[in-house]
Amino acid sequence: MKRMKTIIEPFRIKSVEPLRRTTPEEREKFLKRAGYNLFELHATEILIDLLTDSGTSAMSTNQWAAMMRGDESYAGSESFFRFKKVVDELTGFKHVIPTHQGRAAEHLLFEALGGPGRVVPNNTHFDTTRANVEASGAAALDVPCAESSDLASDAPFKGNADVEALERCLASNAGRVPLVMVTVTNNAGGGQPVSLANLRAVRAVCERFGVPLFLDACRFAENAYLVQQREPGLSTRPIRAIVRDMCALADGCTMSAKKDGLANIGGFLACRDPELARRVRQSMVVTEGFPTYGGMAGRDLDAIAQGLREVVEQDYLEYRHASIRYVVDRLSQRGVPCVQPAGGHANFLDAARFLAHLPRREFPGQALAIELYLEGGIRSCEIGSVMLGRGDECARHELVRLAIPRRTYTQSHMDYVIEIVSRVWERRERVPGVAIESAPAVLRHFSARFRRTPLRAASASKPSLRSAR
Ligand code: F0G
Repeated sequence: MKRMKTIIEPFRIKSVEPLRRTTPEEREKFLKRAGYNLFELHATEILIDLLTDSGTSAMSTNQWAAMMRGDESYAGSESFFRFKKVVDELTGFKHVIPTHQGRAAEHLLFEALGGPGRVVPNNTHFDTTRANVEASGAAALDVPCAESSDLASDAPFKGNADVEALERCLASNAGRVPLVMVTVTNNAGGGQPVSLANLRAVRAVCERFGVPLFLDACRFAENAYLVQQREPGLSTRPIRAIVRDMCALADGCTMSAKKDGLANIGGFLACRDPELARRVRQSMVVTEGFPTYGGMAGRDLDAIAQGLREVVEQDYLEYRHASIRYVVDRLSQRGVPCVQPAGGHANFLDAARFLAHLPRREFPGQALAIELYLEGGIRSCEIGSVMLGRGDECARHELVRLAIPRRTYTQSHMDYVIEIVSRVWERRERVPGVAIESAPAVLRHFSARFRRTPLRAASASKPSLRSAR
């Protein structure tokens, strides 16, 4: 069939949720109360919520129907076996352990394999993954590929791991690396995909050093779609086959079903090693629950099982990526600095270039996220030095993520987002920076309080102080 130019949403809408409008004065008041931290806003104070694509998907009629079949038995529920069958078929991992969300799977994995003196490399740890590695006493080491540092380049697989850096890490930490992780897609690095070729090279290194490889598989389907579209020779390979190719190279995965599970809650840990599975099942009863429900209701397991079937449909993934590209392309055409090329789940603004008059110690990412809310009630998320920096040390990049919830917003919502971002872009020199007033020691972005710093006269024309790592 001839491919159509217009890629449509492969669904129609049966149930709608009203949006709430606010005035600029109200937004200023809400933000002051929230200490200029968007996590502290009430959902009713937001018009378009692009804080995260996690747990915010619209479920399908088949998912809602599946929920009614949920078997709420404490042990051995039918829902668990339906869930396990789908995960088995998709990944080939034999042991499937449900958890209430991705970070619970991470916690169980690093509790079992982490510990003081150990080092866990990852293309880029997401914040919760890093926090769980570190909570076990181990060190979390990022080994992103060199292409990832050029946010504006069109390299197709900027989520890749740096294989040589990984090799050096394994050689210099012999006996201290309990596992290697690869995050697909690389969320903290701009939602960029990891190629199968890179996964194969990582696998080869892991085998040479006798270390298992785990995927952080939250966005496995979006990664598989971008592999199909971008990796030579794979354009006709079905998504399910590419997912199997990815998993065949790994010994297990952690998964947040709140992303590519198309569910509002849930996750799992899956692996091939029966001994690891046994240890995890034993310890999870204390915190997560019995191993056939892992902190979820039976109906949640059924919603995920159905979501995992839908998320690998070609039509869905084509629409999904088109909806991300739509925003990235239009903003880029207006000169707005966006991470290129369009990744899997979000548009990432390069806040260091967007607000080039602000030094990095004034957190341009947080400053921009605040401004997008004030201008149009849009909630986005800083992924920069607030989230990933440590003390005075800056993160690699200052990004603002406009995460697109799955199947939730339409094209006109995105047109509105483009209009608001463009308005802030036009008056960017007048956007003030921020300072941290108070912050907790761990995962500070969730509850830090900020104040806006006065805009220095002529700061827009002066070169700014930069502290890149
Ligand atoms: N790994 C990655 C790559 C993630 O993006 C997330 C969550 C997790 C692990 C943890 O999963 O939330 O189910 O516990 N990311 C969300 C986000 C929160 O907004 O990107 P979880």
